[in-house]
Amino acid sequence: MRARKAAPARPGKKVTRVGMRYTHDTQSRHSEQCDGATFVRLHASCMNVSLACERRFVLSSNTVRVGIVGVGNCASSFVQGLTYYRDASSSDVIPGLMNPTVDRYRVRDIEIASAFDIHAGKVGRDLCDALLTAPNNTRIFAEVPHTGVTVARGPTLDGIGTYLRDEIEESQLPESDVAEVLRRTRTDVLVSYLPVGSQRASEWYALRALEAGCAFVNCIPVFIASDTGWRRRFESAGLPLLGDDIKSQVGATIVHRVLANLLHERGVQLEHTYQLNFGGNSDFKNMLERERLTSKKLSKTRSVTSQVSVAPSNIHVAPSDHVEWLTDRKWAYIRLEGTGFGGTPLNIELKLEVWDSPNSAGVVIDAVRCAKLALDRHIGGALVGPSSYFMKSPPQQFPDHVARDLTLKFIAGEESDRSATNRDDTARARATCHVHANG
Ligand SMILES: NC(=O)c1ccc[n+]([C@@H]2O[C@H](COP(=O)([O-])OP(=O)(O)OC[C@H]3O[C@@H](n4cnc5c(N)ncnc54)[C@H](O)[C@@H]3O)[C@@H](O)[C@H]2O)c1
Repeated sequence: MRARKAAPARPGKKVTRVGMRYTHDTQSRHSEQCDGATFVRLHASCMNVSLACERRFVLSSNTVRVGIVGVGNCASSFVQGLTYYRDASSSDVIPGLMNPTVDRYRVRDIEIASAFDIHAGKVGRDLCDALLTAPNNTRIFAEVPHTGVTVARGPTLDGIGTYLRDEIEESQLPESDVAEVLRRTRTDVLVSYLPVGSQRASEWYALRALEAGCAFVNCIPVFIASDTGWRRRFESAGLPLLGDDIKSQVGATIVHRVLANLLHERGVQLEHTYQLNFGGNSDFKNMLERERLTSKKLSKTRSVTSQVSVAPSNIHVAPSDHVEWLTDRKWAYIRLEGTGFGGTPLNIELKLEVWDSPNSAGVVIDAVRCAKLALDRHIGGALVGPSSYFMKSPPQQFPDHVARDLTLKFIAGEESDRSATNRDDTARARATCHVHANG
């Protein structure tokens, strides 16, 4: 990621600049005062830029305006969390939250600005109703009030797989102009919660984020932030990018990584390991389609092999089945077999039971606030530290305690640009060749 000296105006929306933010505004020619924020409109020529239009300078707002792509279970937990933690105070230690505040942003400062889906039962409805529509089946822990955000119709592309085709009726409403909606709703950060295997749809929405001047948080295992080409695009646009594939608060991935690292640090040779996951939500149903699973398997396996050396044929990490009655619960069986002192065998076997979607929501609540901080600070490109802490497949892997440290330093403004390749603690990059995606 690169700190920009002078970020161009993001078309149609604000960019914070030393406490000020501005937008393109082709209509206005006046200075004015508005409620909540001070708008001072200036001619582009005053700013020594060659844009034909004018820009609107606005004092930085204290909100993080989020757009959601895919109003499924994860979106439900995320939005419920905004209600549930609305009154969280910055001085409290709050069960369930990693960080009550991220710099100046509290949970209550996150607002939903826009939402996109393709499901007939969700498009055209207020987000609070769409979130309760089947096949969403996650735990309801907060009553989301009317949001005023109507779910807009996005293009379907490769969003619906074989196993959900019969369950999801596509909306007959016309597709919206997504970039225009993002600009009009002043969306700061676009979060992708598309189904696994949505390669084309993910790339399509990443392009719309670039077009509209939004930061992009990619929660799914399609490689955007971990792809050099996409990183360059966001870097040249001066827009922050976080990804890929959200790492849950305490999920199978982080438990598996920590145990693998523990064996490594204590001198135990990891010989064989597996992580078998199953659940009853539509994410697991969709993943029954093996062809859509390649990137998910790659992402989950890399996340473990980046921490420890194990022969490719001796590791198996995968979503394994769909068990309807588990609803949004996910069970993971993890086994590690190692060799300790004197060649003595050592085994760890555990079962993890979690609710899948709430497990990711708090992490996304932190990720969007980091993305907004980067916007405020004119940092474009992939956020290496936060991505490594929040995501399974970041541009660069670190042991989790280092990733956390980098993230806290980023939040504190001490770590704005990091090319971490020359750090001693960079995780061992031995992942890719270890993966047989359909194995
Ligand atoms: N802990 C977790 O739950 C976790 C962790 C890591 C990654 N993820 C990933 O997050 C993603 C979302 O998970 P989920 O459980 O919310 O899935 P979900 O199936 O409940 O929701 C996906 C939503 O996307 C919509 N959709 C499909 N195609 C679309 C398109 N082209 N445009 C807009 N919307 C479209 C669907 O209608 C659905 O509402 C998945 O890829 C999952 O693997 C989840």
